[in-house]
Amino acid sequence: MLGGCHAPGPIAPRGKSGSAPEKAQRNDRVGRQDAAVDLPELSDDVVRLRALHTDDVGTGAPGERSVVSQSRDPETTRWTTVPLAYNPELGGRFLADGARGWADGSTFTFAITDAGSDEFLGSLDLRADLMRTYRVGFGLGPWARGRGLMTRALRLALGWAFASDGLAAEQVTWEAFAGNWASRKAAWRVGFRGFATVRGLSEHRGVVTDGWIATLRPAELGHPEGRWLDVPTLPVTTRDGSAWVLRPWRGPDDEAEVAAALRAAGDAVTHRWLRHLPHPYTESDAREFLASRPEGPATGSTLSWTLGPASGGPGVLSLTAFGFDRPYGNPELGWWADPAARGRGLVSAALRRAVGWLLHEAPVGVRTHRLVAQIDAGNHASARVALAAGFTEFGRGHAEDPDPAGGWSDCRYFELLRADAGSGAVTGG
Ligand SMILES: CC(C)(COP(=O)(O)OP(=O)(O)OC[C@H]1O[C@@H](n2cnc3c(N)ncnc32)[C@H](O)[C@@H]1OP(=O)(O)O)[C@@H](O)C(=O)NCCC(=O)NCCS
Repeated sequence: MLGGCHAPGPIAPRGKSGSAPEKAQRNDRVGRQDAAVDLPELSDDVVRLRALHTDDVGTGAPGERSVVSQSRDPETTRWTTVPLAYNPELGGRFLADGARGWADGSTFTFAITDAGSDEFLGSLDLRADLMRTYRVGFGLGPWARGRGLMTRALRLALGWAFASDGLAAEQVTWEAFAGNWASRKAAWRVGFRGFATVRGLSEHRGVVTDGWIATLRPAELGHPEGRWLDVPTLPVTTRDGSAWVLRPWRGPDDEAEVAAALRAAGDAVTHRWLRHLPHPYTESDAREFLASRPEGPATGSTLSWTLGPASGGPGVLSLTAFGFDRPYGNPELGWWADPAARGRGLVSAALRRAVGWLLHEAPVGVRTHRLVAQIDAGNHASARVALAAGFTEFGRGHAEDPDPAGGWSDCRYFELLRADAGSGAVTGG
């Protein structure tokens, strides 16, 4: 069932390197003495990892917290290879496969339960892969998500996997379908590193899809690599008194947001000043843009916002601060707006709010003493936005930007120092 991108039933690792039982034997030869491994009970007072029980399977009745309920959940079917139309019979098979896995040393499946009530929360498995290497897969029922429980379950299971009286693993591999940010963050939190996107890594319900992969070694457990930045949501009031919110872009499944990004980035004026954007800008470019927004925060490099009406509705501009991974900060800001949003002071208001947050309110490590912006010398509207937000022009780069006529145009450089930016209690306006 459940698990990274694992299928519930027969174990089907990717070709070449042998079946799971063969790999288990190979692990066995170099590591453990016996193929069968005693199932430990692992607990941290909040979650418990134990053997799956028949009672965990359930029928999928409304409100039930069971294997069947979890496996029918749309997020589970979206992000794992669990069979569709999951039923108690499949749940029974999952239990039997789980027991066989422990017996032949090929897969070590745990139920994740509440440490106090023993209520079923989800499952986690470790599959024998390369020599002394295992692949982890996991999932929680919707009722158990968003409380850090998977991070806890992973810490327990991986601690056991690396222990000499556990699996004595030397490495554990995590894989997910690209876009599964909840899984990636839980993996990052426990120390997985080297996150890479591999085109066509996986197959999902008949479609070859991109996948993410990362690995973890014993000394890294509990030590996340780098920073995962939070993109704050900030209220903004514009000069006409209307209420907006500077917020992260919604994902590529939000059709209104896709249409908004397409309108703004596909506009001729945007293209005139931002020649690096794809042209013509297609719907698939817009989806890719939205899908890639969480990558910057996840790698500690970039914060990316849009501005949407406080009452809901799609974003009308893009505002990005990049360079948080540079040694001395000095993040750079860049922006573009929906043609319909131009000329209303929205970009200036959004920029003022973001700047106030970055210079005065952001957490240590993100808060900065200086911001910069670089604007094509012909782009007077954009320069006005920077000046309205308090930036000062300090120089010029010659023949820096491509020109539509095939030559090069100058760039104007702007900066804003905290010392020059007032007290910071900014709402936009
Ligand atoms: C993946 C899954 C197990 C994570 O469970 P969870 O309870 O959310 O896990 P945790 O709370 O321990 O950690 C998730 C983190 O991701 C964050 N997160 C969730 N959705 C996110 C998103 N779309 N973008 C960025 N971060 C996100 C959470 O806020 C949390 O962050 P925090 O540690 O700063 O609080 C759960 O979402 C799930 O069962 N999904 C369906 C099955 C699945 O995807 N399995 C994994 C396949 S590889």
